[in-house]
Amino acid sequence: MGLSIHHVNKSFGEPPHRVLKDINIDIDSGEFVAISGKSGSGKTTLLYILSTLDDPTSGEVKIDGVNPYTMSTKDIHEFRNAHIGFIFQFHYLLPELSAIENILLPARKHDLHRQKYSRAEELMNQFGLTNKNDRLPSQLSGGEQQRVAIARSLIMEPKYLFADEPTGNLDSANGLVVMDLLKKINREQQTTVVLVTHETDYAEMTSRIINLVDGEVVP
Ligand SMILES: Nc1ncnc2c1ncn2[C@@H]1O[C@H](COP(=O)(O)OP(=O)(O)OP(=O)(O)O)[C@@H](O)[C@H]1O
Ligand SMILES: [Mg+2]
Repeated sequence: MGLSIHHVNKSFGEPPHRVLKDINIDIDSGEFVAISGKSGSGKTTLLYILSTLDDPTSGEVKIDGVNPYTMSTKDIHEFRNAHIGFIFQFHYLLPELSAIENILLPARKHDLHRQKYSRAEELMNQFGLTNKNDRLPSQLSGGEQQRVAIARSLIMEPKYLFADEPTGNLDSANGLVVMDLLKKINREQQTTVVLVTHETDYAEMTSRIINLVDGEVVP
C-alpha cells in the first residue's frame, strides 16, 4: 500500500521542456511528507502526478499497487472520490453554497450528504467554525474559508490527502492552525498526507522532506 513513482519524467510543450527528471519516490501509508523547493522547481507538477490528476510523460506510478492510468475514467473518478482528498492553494469553495453545504459537496456526489451531516458539523467544531454552518464563503475570513476547504477534503475520510500550499494565502497564525490540523489528521486518522510548501518552517513540521531543485530530487 502507499504511493510509488519510478523513473518518472514530465515534459511540457513542443519542443519538450523537461520539468521532472527521473523522479523515484516511495511514500508509505500513514506518512506525512513535504515536497519542498523554489518556485518553478516542479512541486505542483509532481503533486498532480502523485495524486492521479496528471500522467507522467514516462515512468511508472502506483497508488495502492495499481497504476491509475490503466484504470477506466469511471474507475479513476470513483477511486479519487472515495480515497483522495485535495486541498488547493486557492480553495475553490462554491460562492453560492453555505460553509456546511460546501463541506458536504463530495458526499452529495454519492448521495451520502444526509449520513455525513453530523460528521460535517463535527469537523466544523474541530476547526473552530462552530455556529458558522450557514455562512457563505464571502462572509468568512480567508483562514476560515481555508479551514472549510480542508473540512471538505476530509468529509469522505480519504486515505490520501494532497495539499498544494494550503498555507499560501494565510498569515502565520492561521498557517500554524492549518499545519496543526494536517498533523492531527495524519496522527489520528492515519491519513497519508503529502504537502507542497516552499516554506521551510512548515516543511520541517512533517516527518520527511522531499527537496526538488529544477525538477530533480536532491538530498
Ligand atoms: N501545463 C503546463 N504547460 C507548460 N509548462 C508548464 C505547465 N505546468 C507547469 N509548467 C512549467 O513547469 C515548471 C514547474 O511548474 P510547477 O507548477 O510544477 O512549479 P512549482 O514548483 O509548483 O512552482 P510554484 O512554487 O511557483 O507553485 C515551470 O517552469 C512551469 O512553467
Ligand atoms: Mg506550485
